[in-house]
Amino acid sequence: AMVARKGSALVRVYREQKERKRAQKKHWELAGTAIGNIMGIEKKDEKKDEKVNPEGDTDYKTGQKFADHMRDNQAASSEFAKKKTIKEQRQYLPVFAVRQELLNVIRENSVVIIVGETGSGKTTQLTQYLHEDGYSTYGMIGCTQPRRVAAMSVAKRVSDEIGSSLGETVGYAIRFEDCTSENTVIKYMTDGILLRESLRDSDLDSYSAIIMDEAHERSLNTDVLFGLLREVVARRQDLKLIVTSATMDASKFAMFFGNVPTYTIPGRTFPVETFFSKNLVEDYVDASVKQALQIHLQSSPGDILVFMPGQEDIEVTCEVLAERLGEIDNAPQLAILPIYSQLPSDLQAKIFQRSPDGLRKCVVATNIAETSLTVDGIMFVIDSGFCKLKVYNPRIGMDALQIYPISQANANQRSGRAGRTGPGQCYRLYTERQFKDELLVTTVPEIQRTNLANTVLLLKSLGVQDLLQFHFMDPPPQDNILNSLYQLWILGALDHTGTLTPLGRQMAEFPLDPPQCQMLIVSTEMGCCAEILIIVSMLSVPSIFYRPKGREEEADSVREKFQVPESDHLTFLNVYNQWKQNNYSANWCNEHFIHVKAMRKVREVRQQLKDILEQQKMAMVSCGTDWDIIRKCICSAYFHQAARLKGIGEYVHCRTGMPCHLHPTSALFGMGFTPDYVVYHELVMTAKEYMQCVTAVDGQWLAELGPMFFSLKETGKSGSAKRRQAQVHLQEMEAQMRAAQQEIQMRQDEE
Ligand code: CDP
Ligand code: MG
Repeated sequence: AMVARKGSALVRVYREQKERKRAQKKHWELAGTAIGNIMGIEKKDEKKDEKVNPEGDTDYKTGQKFADHMRDNQAASSEFAKKKTIKEQRQYLPVFAVRQELLNVIRENSVVIIVGETGSGKTTQLTQYLHEDGYSTYGMIGCTQPRRVAAMSVAKRVSDEIGSSLGETVGYAIRFEDCTSENTVIKYMTDGILLRESLRDSDLDSYSAIIMDEAHERSLNTDVLFGLLREVVARRQDLKLIVTSATMDASKFAMFFGNVPTYTIPGRTFPVETFFSKNLVEDYVDASVKQALQIHLQSSPGDILVFMPGQEDIEVTCEVLAERLGEIDNAPQLAILPIYSQLPSDLQAKIFQRSPDGLRKCVVATNIAETSLTVDGIMFVIDSGFCKLKVYNPRIGMDALQIYPISQANANQRSGRAGRTGPGQCYRLYTERQFKDELLVTTVPEIQRTNLANTVLLLKSLGVQDLLQFHFMDPPPQDNILNSLYQLWILGALDHTGTLTPLGRQMAEFPLDPPQCQMLIVSTEMGCCAEILIIVSMLSVPSIFYRPKGREEEADSVREKFQVPESDHLTFLNVYNQWKQNNYSANWCNEHFIHVKAMRKVREVRQQLKDILEQQKMAMVSCGTDWDIIRKCICSAYFHQAARLKGIGEYVHCRTGMPCHLHPTSALFGMGFTPDYVVYHELVMTAKEYMQCVTAVDGQWLAELGPMFFSLKETGKSGSAKRRQAQVHLQEMEAQMRAAQQEIQMRQDEE
C-alpha cells in the first residue's frame, strides 16, 4: 500500500484541484513587476483594444459569423496541407515570394536582420536558399536555435525537403548528440553548441554563413553569441550573418550590428478573435479542459493548441481531457498530443503528422509552440497565461525554475498561432485587467534574470577578462555578474583576481554546469570517478522511469526496488549498474519500466565525458562498494545547495532559511528516514518549493567542504544571521576582486 501511495504522489499533487488553485494564486503574485523589481526594470503601460468574453469565465459563445469563418477555414486548411506535395508546400510559404530579393540583400551585406511572422518559412527555407545559391561550397551553413527540440525537428523536416537522410546533407547537433557527417552542409544546432565551437575555433572558419534564428527569444546563449559574432564578422569579410526574428526587436538588433539592413518578409496572416476571461480563473488546467471540450463539441473544424507552463501541467491536462471526453456519450474522437522538450522525440514528431480526415487534433504544449515550432491547421488557441522560466532567485541566491505569468508579447505571439491557415480564435484564461496591469510588455531577457556562472566560465576561457566591458546588447545587472563570479570563486574555478584557476580551465572543457563539472573533477581526486561519471550522465538525460496507463502501481513497485534510501543520485547509479549487469538489454529496461532510449543516451553521454576525462589525463578510478565516498563527493559539489531538517518532512535551506520540500518522486520521500542534512540538484517551484534529486549528507562534511558557508556552531543561527553572513562573504570577495582589478589596471598604466 505504501508503494502505491508514494509513487502516485506527484501526480496527485497536480491532480488535486485545491493544490493547483493554491499554486496558481502564488504564481500570480509573481506577476507584472515581480521579475522587474528584482532586476530593477519598470513595467510600462500599453493600451490595447481587446474583447472580453461576454459570457464570463470560460463559457464562450460564438455567433454565425464565426461559423462562416470556419467553413472557409476548412477549405483553406484541407487545400493547404492535404493535397500539396512537399515542393508545392515550399513554394506556398511567404518567404518563397521574396527568395531572389532576399538573396540579393544577403549578397550585398555581411549582416542582415530578417523579420517575418512565425510560419513564413524562415527556419526551414533560408538555409536551403543559401545552399542553392552556392554558399555551401566554401563552408557550412549553420543555423542556431534556442531549443533542442526545434533544432532536431527542423533538421528532420529540411532533410525530408531536400530528399536526403538526416545526418547527411542536413544534420543537427545538440549537447551530447552530433548528428552530422563530413557531407553535412546545412547544420542546425542549439546556440549553446555554436558557443562551445567558438572555444575551439574563435573565427568559426568552418562556416560560410550563420543564421541566428529565433533571436527575439533572447536566450542567454544567443545574447552571448551576439557579442562574439559582432567581432567575428568584423574579422571575417567572407562570413554572412543573418539574424532572424519574429516581429519584435528588429531595429534593436540592426542597431547593435551597426545599422545593418532589416528585411521584412511580407506576411500572410488571418484575423484572430481574442477573448479574455471575464472572471478570475482559479485553475487553468480545469479551465482549459472545459474550453477545449467546448470547442471540440461544436461542429466547426480546426485543430486546438493549448499553452501550458510545463510538463506536469501538460500531462495532467491531457489526462483530464481524455477522461472527461470519455464520460460524454457519442463524443467525436480527439487526438490529444502533448509536446514539451523532455518528451521522447518519436512522440514529439507526432504533432506534425497529419491526422486522419475528420479527426481533430488538440496539441498541448509549452511555449515551445509559441514561435519555434509551427503546427499547421491550428485554428483555436487556449492560453493559460503562464510559462516556466529559469529565474535568479535572490532569496536562495541562485536559479530556480518557476512558473511565471507570461508577457504581453508572449500572449500576442500565442494568439497569432490561431491565424496561420485561416481566421481563428484565441481564448485567454485571464482577464483583460490582468493582461493590462499585471503582464510585463516583453519578457526580461534571460541574461538579465539568470545565473551566469556558465557564461562567465566560457567567456573567461575565451580570454574575456573583464566581463563588465564585454559588448552585451542588454548588459546583465552587475549583481548577477558578481554573484556568478562569487559562485565560481566558491567552487574554486576563479582565484581572487577573477582569473581562471587550473580547475576552472578544466571545468570549461566539460559541457556541463559548473557544479557537475566540479563533482566530476573532484571525484578523480576522491577515487570515485567511475561512479560519478555515471551519475553525471544520468543527470543529463530526461526522466528514466515511466508509468504506463493502467500499470502505474506495478511500475511504482518496480521503481521502488531500485531506490537507495539515502540518495536519488545513488539510485541512478544503481539503475545503471543493474542495466550494465544485464548486458545493456532493452528487454530488461522494458520489464523494469525504464526508457531504453534514455538509457542508451546515458551510455553515449558517459562515453563522451569519459573521452574528455582521458584527453585531460584525469584518472578513472572506482570506489567499489564504498558509497559513502560518493555521497561525500556529491556533497562537495552541491554544498551551497544544502538543506537542514526542521520538522517532520520539512527542510530549510542552510544558507537562507527558506523552506524546501522533498519532491514526491525522491527516494527519500515518505521513507520514514529523514536525514538531518541533504543536498539537492535542482530547486523547482511549482505547488511548493521542491528539491529535486536529493542526497543525504553528513553535517560534518558540509562544515569541512564549505567553510565559508557553514560552521557547526553556526547551524543554530537564524536565517537572517546566515543571510548576513553570506552577504559578508560576497562583499569580501567583491572587494578582493576589485582590488585585484585595480592592481592589474595600475600595472598596465605603468607599462
Ligand atoms: O521559421 P518560421 O516560423 O518562419 O517557419 P518554418 O519553421 O520554416 O515553417 C515553415 C513551414 O514548415 C510551416 O508550414 C511548418 O508547418 C512546416 N514544418 C513542418 O512541417 N515540420 C517541421 N518539423 C517544421 C516545419
Ligand atoms: Mg522559425
